[in-house]
Amino acid sequence: MEIKKIAVLGAGQMGNGIAHVCAQAGYQVKMRDIEQKFIDKAMDTIRKNLERGLKKGKITEEEVEETVGRVEGTLSLDDAVKDADLVIEAVPEIVDLKLKTWKEVDEKAPEHAILASNTSSISITQMASVTKTPERFVGMHFFNPVPVMKLVEIIKGAATSDETVDAIEQVSEKLGKETVLVNEAPGFAVNRLLVPAINEAIFAIQEGVATVEDMDKAIKLGLNWPMGPLTLADFVGLDTLLYISDYFVEEFKDSKYRAPALLRKMVRAGWVGRKAGKGFYDYSGEKPEPLTF
Ligand SMILES: NC(=O)c1ccc[n+]([C@@H]2O[C@H](COP(=O)([O-])OP(=O)(O)OC[C@H]3O[C@@H](n4cnc5c(N)ncnc54)[C@H](O)[C@@H]3O)[C@@H](O)[C@H]2O)c1
Repeated sequence: MEIKKIAVLGAGQMGNGIAHVCAQAGYQVKMRDIEQKFIDKAMDTIRKNLERGLKKGKITEEEVEETVGRVEGTLSLDDAVKDADLVIEAVPEIVDLKLKTWKEVDEKAPEHAILASNTSSISITQMASVTKTPERFVGMHFFNPVPVMKLVEIIKGAATSDETVDAIEQVSEKLGKETVLVNEAPGFAVNRLLVPAINEAIFAIQEGVATVEDMDKAIKLGLNWPMGPLTLADFVGLDTLLYISDYFVEEFKDSKYRAPALLRKMVRAGWVGRKAGKGFYDYSGEKPEPLTF
């Protein structure tokens, strides 16, 4: 079956990026969120990111308009998924919300649709189990910012069929992405390493080992990371990091994955990173200013 229509659930940081790359690859996209303001913001972001490509001469004005024209925002889940060949879910990393969303999708999406979650850590098998077609359920884990990052981790749940994996490999290739296939485990491959590493950097900040700026500089120049761990934490979203850390502790039954108290405090304050204008850096000025802890 050829995939032509894609529903993207959630128009946040990841959802708008996923909608962008799918539309640019020629798919018809319906992007669903729960409030019009989130859809409007996502459409603005997609256009701005495409126009950046236009300025650099990477795409034409016509391609910008065609791409934007292939993304339709909607508040209705029914409208989003009723004709979809592939549903990609990018709602917040909260187990109950994901399960509720997938139960609803299962009632409304066509039987042939492939169901893919962009979860950073949550069990694919658990989400698949609330649908009638667990063999069509798969993890499709993109990286932030989606239009730039090359990797898609494909995650096989207990019942995921080889046909479903093949279909996602083909879509990913059409999106210009490289793939790795991983078996289900909390955090899959990348976040299994990344989240403990970022948390360790936050523990070090909490203990006064270095300033935010110096910790980022140390890891950037010492390990050749493209950005430091605290800049990356702000990029990912501190709320998402906290959800993943708590999920790891619960799933692995191992406190070595625990979140630093500082991370929890910042999430409680609403300082969840770039998307909130404040995290380990303040983004209200011309350039990000590191906070002091
Ligand atoms: N941020 C990252 O770097 C990153 C990377 C890979 C995967 N992910 C995963 O992607 C998912 C989304 O993360 P994000 O960073 O885009 O979060 P985000 O907070 O930027 O966006 C989530 C969006 O989902 C919307 N939403 C909430 N409930 C919804 C519902 N029932 N239906 C549709 N939309 C709903 C919210 O209004 C919001 O716009 C999470 O599972 C996260 O773990 C995040």
